[in-house]
Amino acid sequence: MINKYAQTIKSELISNKKVGAYHHLVFEVGTMASHVRPGNFVAISVGGPTSSMVLRRAFAIHRSMDRGASGGVIELVVAPHGNGSKWLTSLPIGSYVKLTGPLGTSFGIPTEQVRALLVGGGYGSAPLFGLAEVLKSRGSRVDMVLGASTAGKIYAPIEGKRSVNSMTITTDDGSAGVHGRVSDVLPEIIERNSCEIIYSCGPMAMLAAISEIADKYNLIHQCAVEESMACGIGICMTCVIPLVDDEGQIRMQRSCIAGPVVDGERVIWNTGGSIPEGTLGAL
Ligand SMILES: Cc1cc2nc3c(=O)[nH]c(=O)nc-3n(C[C@H](O)[C@H](O)[C@H](O)COP(=O)(O)OP(=O)(O)OC[C@H]3O[C@@H](n4cnc5c(N)ncnc54)[C@H](O)[C@@H]3O)c2cc1C
Ligand code: FES
Repeated sequence: MINKYAQTIKSELISNKKVGAYHHLVFEVGTMASHVRPGNFVAISVGGPTSSMVLRRAFAIHRSMDRGASGGVIELVVAPHGNGSKWLTSLPIGSYVKLTGPLGTSFGIPTEQVRALLVGGGYGSAPLFGLAEVLKSRGSRVDMVLGASTAGKIYAPIEGKRSVNSMTITTDDGSAGVHGRVSDVLPEIIERNSCEIIYSCGPMAMLAAISEIADKYNLIHQCAVEESMACGIGICMTCVIPLVDDEGQIRMQRSCIAGPVVDGERVIWNTGGSIPEGTLGAL
């Protein structure tokens, strides 16, 4: 089901700053901010009113702030990648965009204190800082691992670093932190800090590798999947992934409404884009 708090608004861009390989964007969203939970995303119309870019683009909400009477804001971290994201990141302050949100599921926050490990790949770190703040405010220990191909693609704001107990960086080319992948450093961190739950966000191959490690250590793994999305609201079925349902049956489910945050244990990983054998239709 679509997030019951979702609304479509005309939203003003009030800040646009380049940070490494990304743009940190802040939008005025009024009352929407009070309904945002870590893991939710927004879908934004790109290209302006005469654009041929008809598909909305999905972006994880980095942080949200409810400022009471002066209206709330959300922050996004966007990589200028293709036409849509380049258009968005080139907008001047004061521009308006059509934005739908909050969409999708959110990370489950345990009521009791936990020892949490947060793992992000590239701009996948975006939703993890808001999550870290919530976990820390409830007394949990938070260790964070961020990985990317190269140093400029690590998004780790200074204030974000303060909201975690430890931060480990990995890069594929060794230009910052540990030379290697996030999965190379996880076992040692899990063992050293007795982690109980993993939260992750990033490319599917990275999430699959983390899920394998979570299985090995018998840890809960909540991951925000990132499948291509056309509508973002459960209509077009472009975003389906194979998920095991409550009856143990594999079904192709819409990651925009059943996700993006799902239980890693329920995902059938590494299917190479094909439908796994034994799948019973779509939900
Ligand atoms: C849940 C989620 C969260 C995301 N969070 C972030 C984030 O925080 N920061 C960030 O930079 N990016 C994020 N992305 C990626 C983002 O939505 C765009 O895909 C990315 O910015 C590239 O878009 P583009 O317009 O620049 O590229 P383009 O190449 O112009 O367009 C890619 C777009 O086309 C769509 N598309 C392509 N092929 C198909 C197809 N066969 N069927 C349906 N749709 C198709 C994709 O959905 C994508 O939106 C996220 C994606 C998802 C699904
Ligand atoms: S993006 Fe259209 S159903 Fe999920």
